Amino acid sequence: MTNLLEVENLSKRFGSVQANHEISLTVKPGEIVALLGENGAGKSTLVKAVIGLVKPDSGVIRVKGEELPYGDTAEAIARGIGMVHQHFQLVPVMSVTENLVLGDEPTKFGFIQMQKAKRETAELSKRYGLAIDPDAIIEDLPVGMAQRVEILKALRRDVSLLILDEPTAVLTPQETDELLEVLRNLAKKGVGILFITHKLREVMALADRVVVLRNGKLAGSTTPKESSESQLAQLMVGREVVLHVEKGPGNPTGAALEVRELEVLDDRKLEAVKGLSLQVNAGEILGIAGVEGNGQRELVEAICGMRNRRKGTVRIAGKEVPNLKPHEVHAAGVSHIPEDRERHGLVASYSIADNLVLNRFDQEPFAKGWIRNLDAVASNGEELVERYDIRTPSASAPASSLSGGNKQKTVVARELSQDLPVVVASQPTRGVDVGSIEFIHKQLISARDRGAAVLLVSAELDEILSLSDRVAVLYGGKIVATFDSKFANRDEIGRLMAGSQGAHS
Ligand SMILES: Nc1ncnc2c1ncn2[C@@H]1O[C@H](COP(=O)(O)OP(=O)(O)OP(=O)(O)O)[C@@H](O)[C@H]1O
Ligand SMILES: [Mg+2]
Repeated sequence: MTNLLEVENLSKRFGSVQANHEISLTVKPGEIVALLGENGAGKSTLVKAVIGLVKPDSGVIRVKGEELPYGDTAEAIARGIGMVHQHFQLVPVMSVTENLVLGDEPTKFGFIQMQKAKRETAELSKRYGLAIDPDAIIEDLPVGMAQRVEILKALRRDVSLLILDEPTAVLTPQETDELLEVLRNLAKKGVGILFITHKLREVMALADRVVVLRNGKLAGSTTPKESSESQLAQLMVGREVVLHVEKGPGNPTGAALEVRELEVLDDRKLEAVKGLSLQVNAGEILGIAGVEGNGQRELVEAICGMRNRRKGTVRIAGKEVPNLKPHEVHAAGVSHIPEDRERHGLVASYSIADNLVLNRFDQEPFAKGWIRNLDAVASNGEELVERYDIRTPSASAPASSLSGGNKQKTVVARELSQDLPVVVASQPTRGVDVGSIEFIHKQLISARDRGAAVLLVSAELDEILSLSDRVAVLYGGKIVATFDSKFANRDEIGRLMAGSQGAHS
């Protein structure tokens, strides 16, 4: 059978970084190929070269046997390639429907038929099991929802090769399972699929073949039948990775973060957090389990000064804090790893070193009065890049040049290197490779062990269960049950997350 896609000896360099070095790869019709590799290994660069967003330095790309010109996205799309991007390409101020039909709107006499487009959107989201409100404005949506729009946009046209760059990073487990089913069905119809993920479970469940990159080079090629998850991890990282979390017992002392009777509205002015109370003690990790959209985002934003509280109190280290701005909450003792690093975590045009001091650039040792101490900023940058294994040629490079996972590591490094009494971590390992997940987990546990109160919000139930000392289940804006993690039962928590009643402990 002829190959749908053939990449031959493709190379691409960015300054001093050899992002891709003589990489060859094929995808056949109906074949599902998983592309694995550490953060910064060159995965996004490779698929961007195929769709024409990155111009290779050398190498050949063929689609159905015919050579594809470099850097010609329109031509790649015309030849039947579709792509779901790692970073959203949606227009924030436009609605879901407008984004879906953008550039290809159904028209009649030159007018866009919005009703028809909306019906088509509803039909698409139903067909692929990705529920979405056609009228919602993109910038109001949580990242998981925006990701669904990206996926639907790619599926709207008939494609013969579908490329997905970490499509599941921000999806819930249920949505992920649905998407995997969609991909399987597409493959059955002969669509070739090339997908990038850091989740080995998905690779095992879906891929016909696995291609692994390391440091811009091909590290190996295998199949889920031949290789176990830990073997894949080892192939990626080049060393053995501990896939489960090792931690000692917690040593909780008094309350460091107390939330009482909190009420918060969402962007549509509906009540998203409904009289919620919780307490996180110094020296413990409280994990919030829940399906995304049950008030997690509003809860975190109300604690961290990004959203006003309608009612209720928040106390940090025993002191009540009113509705504050984010930097004031930080000054009160709260580190925050936000769920959306692109929007709230980083300033893309600033250097990595500047991003690493973003919330204390005006404080000693990084400034004295009005004068910034650039040497201190630079040496702090170099130290954290080293310690947190942020893959970059230099801490003075702009944050925009980092790969997705390395952006996340930059935010984590800034927030966890400050030893504040409270850590609020939202999806802290989203998009990072298995080796870095292991590292970030260790950092969260050592924050706990030095006495920080850690509030962990994650869509990954496994992450919640393995890191937390106590687990609270959030449903419909309320905490419906709290468990000591020793007694937390996966099935029961799953049921509570889905809204069914269970025994409270
Ligand atoms: N526009 C750019 N300018 C400078 N360097 C870049 C640019 N794009 C990518 N790089 C560098 O190329 C290397 C490969 O990046 P790439 O985004 O392909 O990694 P990745 O495998 O997709 O990683 P991740 O899993 O973190 O998304 C990285 O070192 C990155 O910093
Ligand atoms: Mg990438």
